Amino acid sequence: MNFTIATIPGDGIGPDIIEQTVLVLDKIGEKFGHTFTFTETLAGGIAIDQVGEPLPQKTLDICKKSDAVLLGAVGGPKWDDFPGDQRPEKALLGLREGLNLFANLRPALLYEPLKDACTLRPDLVEGGLDLMVVRELTGGIYFGERGRRQGKYGEEAYDTEAYSKEEIERIAQVAFDIAMKRDKRVTSIDKANILESSRLWRAVVEEVAKEYPEVELNHLYVDNASMQLVRNPKQFDVLLTTNMFGDILSDEASMITGSIGMLPSASLGKGSFGMYEPIHGSAPDIAGQDKANPLATILSGAMMLRYSFQLEKEAKTIENAVIEVLKQGYRTGDIMSAGMKQVGTKKMGQLVVENV
Ligand code: IPM
Ligand code: MG
Repeated sequence: MNFTIATIPGDGIGPDIIEQTVLVLDKIGEKFGHTFTFTETLAGGIAIDQVGEPLPQKTLDICKKSDAVLLGAVGGPKWDDFPGDQRPEKALLGLREGLNLFANLRPALLYEPLKDACTLRPDLVEGGLDLMVVRELTGGIYFGERGRRQGKYGEEAYDTEAYSKEEIERIAQVAFDIAMKRDKRVTSIDKANILESSRLWRAVVEEVAKEYPEVELNHLYVDNASMQLVRNPKQFDVLLTTNMFGDILSDEASMITGSIGMLPSASLGKGSFGMYEPIHGSAPDIAGQDKANPLATILSGAMMLRYSFQLEKEAKTIENAVIEVLKQGYRTGDIMSAGMKQVGTKKMGQLVVENV
């Protein structure tokens, strides 16, 4: 089959990790008889530098015409002092919103060979860890009204958390559908003891749950959930939550699986189109130095095969290749431990290619 993929390397280590992922996908194409056609396009700080805006219309158009998008990372200290709507991160939000990608899947998996990289006591993760964070991605405080105004104590700034019934319903459906293919348990995370938007969230999730009688639903407040994640992470299967809480909890979940350098993500809408990116940032301090861990992006490539192209066997082939390389003892700096063999970005990519 033929697929078109828009690639957005972006900033920092973005180009390093995208390069390796493209090589892995090409190898998959060769092995299984598919053609992936890549179109590289600009977003983030590099787009600000080259064309004066973080998300050029042309980029959005290329993405819309493609079957899927593969993104590296955006941002860096160079653009940190830019006003909010001209920062590189604006490109990410613009892509999510412009492509209608309201569902962000962030699987946190502790790979057996990496269990020593987990920061929790070994007995807490005995037998492995496999959870899925389902994060709402185009609503909430990320997209609510914000601004500056005169308040009781002079100038103040505000951001707004708002969720509509429809937004909650569609993300809850995604979480329940995924749970049906997993351990059939959903934990919905909110702050319903304080926030009105959370009270609506909880009520709507309850409604959606009625359509999934086989799935066990429970609710946690976000403060408790973040504590439970490090106290007893194995209690979770699917975590359903808002844009902001999902951002925070997925970083926490990534660390208990060894390294943020291991976590892929898929951002999906109603159809099979999706955007795939590692959950980590652009790590400008190690950009272009052949030090970055490309595995989260390579695993995002696997998610693309699974969710956008319905190529399950091919997706598994990448995931197994990654596990194989880890079993062989190869590690990038971020997941290095005693007795292992440290390699750079390129070598890690090449090892995955060889194991496909
Ligand atoms: C993420 C990132 C982004 C977010 C930033 C870079 C805008 O942290 O994808 O988790 O907050 O969503
Ligand atoms: Mg984040």
